[in-house]
Amino acid sequence: MGVCECKSKLCEYVKTEDFKKEKHVPVIDFPHDIQAGEPFTVTVEVGKEIPHPNTTEHHIQWIELHYKPDGDQYSYLLGRTSFDSHGASVEGPNTGPAHTSPHACFKVSIMGPGTFTALEQCNIHGIWEYSTPVKV
Ligand SMILES: [Fe+2]
Repeated sequence: MGVCECKSKLCEYVKTEDFKKEKHVPVIDFPHDIQAGEPFTVTVEVGKEIPHPNTTEHHIQWIELHYKPDGDQYSYLLGRTSFDSHGASVEGPNTGPAHTSPHACFKVSIMGPGTFTALEQCNIHGIWEYSTPVKV
């Protein structure tokens, strides 16, 4: 068993930007009065300020929400949502009756302050991330 010697890391390809300027950035919203161990809802939305296309050819495939407690060396995957309908049908692209929008809700509880990180993948523009501190 050895250590991977690959010089290429996924983090080198994950992009981020100001969500008010870039449609791919996942925006994280949650209440500001969080109590340790009490459930609350975190929403993650792509295209909140600038809508992202939602077509058969160009769409958001999934969103993940991670939590890294302050002082912990590990992060925890809180949830992952896939978006699987983008207008495809037997008639062809963009002729179908259903679309799923890149908006996910996660009901969670945490025991202390840390950082929420959301990741999302566009089918043609790769993986984007956004992080924000969370106080408890
Ligand atoms: Fe895109």
